[in-house]
Amino acid sequence: MSLSFIQCRGLTKSYQKGNTTVTPLENLDLDVSKGHFLALMGPSGSGKTTLLNLIAGIDSPTSGDLHIGGTSIAQLSRGALTDWRARHVGYIFQLYHLVPILSAFENVELPLLLSQGSRSARRQRVERALELVGLQDRASHRPPELSGGQEQRVAIARAIVADPPLLVADEPTGDLDRESAQQILTLLRSLVADHGKTIVMVTHDPKAASAADETLHLEKGRLVTAQSLATV
Ligand SMILES: Nc1ncnc2c1ncn2[C@@H]1O[C@H](COP(=O)(O)OP(=O)(O)OP(=O)(O)O)[C@@H](O)[C@H]1O
Ligand SMILES: [Mg+2]
Repeated sequence: MSLSFIQCRGLTKSYQKGNTTVTPLENLDLDVSKGHFLALMGPSGSGKTTLLNLIAGIDSPTSGDLHIGGTSIAQLSRGALTDWRARHVGYIFQLYHLVPILSAFENVELPLLLSQGSRSARRQRVERALELVGLQDRASHRPPELSGGQEQRVAIARAIVADPPLLVADEPTGDLDRESAQQILTLLRSLVADHGKTIVMVTHDPKAASAADETLHLEKGRLVTAQSLATV
């Protein structure tokens, strides 16, 4: 089999709590090909966020292999992992995590301040990202002046501004009304279809999951079934 874009083998994450060990992820195998939109579902506490954080390089596995785009990220030092993450992953949160005192433009610009680049090159990238999410006319607005759906679109612009190949989203529509949620899902789909992004999205909502190419279910830290769904 050819190497998948995301390849997890025997992935295990444990935490030591006093005398007891909690193992939110156990011996998990997962392959995600490039340009694929994967939805992860499962009950609360089943390990969805834990898995997402490993794939995003926010956390490191206790054991097992994790290759992304050919890089063995479980092997990287903390500094190298931070560097890798900045170039390869955009993270989208349920509650947006925008900085309230910064404008939409400044929020989207934040990831670019970590890397080299001229001010005008940054401006171009931020403008392109805001345009892609349809918010070029809201660039100077601060988050409190935006609707929830607009805030999430700013957060998506921030996630894609450095052009990472991988986007991970933890319940990105969990706090939105049906119509705003649908807009976000349409946007995520177009990032896959038109921009070749690979997306792993956690959701509790079967309707949101149906926007993905495939839905996998986690239970007690293990994948239980694989269910292929038609693309909408
Ligand atoms: N830093 C940590 N220390 C100890 N235990 C943790 C830690 N992070 C997560 N866990 C435990 O791992 C398990 C899985 O947590 P996780 O956040 O991955 O669940 P989830 O599927 O995302 O749930 P939800 O749907 O509620 O967001 C839980 O039992 C949680 O308490
Ligand atoms: Mg979670």
